[in-house]
Amino acid sequence: MKRILVTGGAGFIGSHLCERLVNEGHDVICLDNFYTGSKENVWHLIGKPNFEIVRHDVCQPYWAEIDEIYNLACPASPIHYQNDPIQTTKTSIFGAYFMLGLARRTKCKILQASTSEVYGDPDIHPQPESYWGNVNSIGLRSCYDEGKRCAETLFFDYHRIHGVRIKVIRIFNTYGPRMAENDGRVVSNFIMQALRGEDITIFGDGKQTRSFQYITDLIEGIIHMMDSRDDFTGPVNIGNPGEFTMLELAEKIISQTGSKSKILFRPLPSDDPQKRKPDITLAKSELHWEPKVTLDDGLKETIDYFKHRL
Ligand SMILES: NC(=O)c1ccc[n+]([C@@H]2O[C@H](COP(=O)([O-])OP(=O)(O)OC[C@H]3O[C@@H](n4cnc5c(N)ncnc54)[C@H](O)[C@@H]3O)[C@@H](O)[C@H]2O)c1
Repeated sequence: MKRILVTGGAGFIGSHLCERLVNEGHDVICLDNFYTGSKENVWHLIGKPNFEIVRHDVCQPYWAEIDEIYNLACPASPIHYQNDPIQTTKTSIFGAYFMLGLARRTKCKILQASTSEVYGDPDIHPQPESYWGNVNSIGLRSCYDEGKRCAETLFFDYHRIHGVRIKVIRIFNTYGPRMAENDGRVVSNFIMQALRGEDITIFGDGKQTRSFQYITDLIEGIIHMMDSRDDFTGPVNIGNPGEFTMLELAEKIISQTGSKSKILFRPLPSDDPQKRKPDITLAKSELHWEPKVTLDDGLKETIDYFKHRL
């Protein structure tokens, strides 16, 4: 049994990770300031003897005796991270800095939830980890993209200078139950619009592509990375290489929900990437991991979840 700290543990991904680690019998601390996450996401874990919640902002130092840290704290949807962009940059950078300090003092392993956004609007497709990205440093998305890039820099410098055992994953678009229904992410947005019979809004012409990873595949990938050999630091892409246009996604959701919604096209927001698809060769060879859940199956579970909430 390990003592494990999950920052951002009450968020979408964090809550699934806490659940998995608690079920494996580890002693789990879920640290969160509930900016975008909620206690409701981990309600079913509260009261278990190997689970505790700490209300704390990662921009402040935190101390506990632990064996592993999963650093997930950071708002992930554009609506939320652009709401207070300075706080977003602070969360990424100070969060990484204080968690790395804790990892250094306790000599524990630390995993950083980085993102495919570090590739920006890529001119290489699909994106391998060796690609350095095409990121605007002064745009509306920069607080998130550059914050995450700088956090990666801190991770590698702590590793090189202080020997901290780091693991960096770059997560691609992930969906599933417990996504916030109002956060503007494409899968939850389309599903809610379809279930309410509202028009489905596509930004741009709908030909831009994304790859969608189901949450259980991501959790499996995260655990494989934490348990991988010590000298494998990453960064490693964790995503599903299946590629779909926004139009295809909207049509799938309309068909699976049996909705009568129409599709409405709106202007594309600035710096919105045209395509995104992970090259997962490294994850396959180093972690012996690849995603298993098809988009149809994952959407079914997610639609059921949102139906239940409605
Ligand atoms: N969901 C995705 O598709 C995706 C893709 C790439 C990367 N990621 C990364 O994975 C992590 C989790 O994403 P998510 O989708 O679960 O988002 P989320 O918004 O649901 O979860 C983030 C959690 O962090 C907490 N948080 C935010 N700022 C904090 C702070 N200063 N101190 C303490 N807690 C704070 C929030 O309250 C929330 O519980 C994020 O770091 C995100 O950047 C997610």
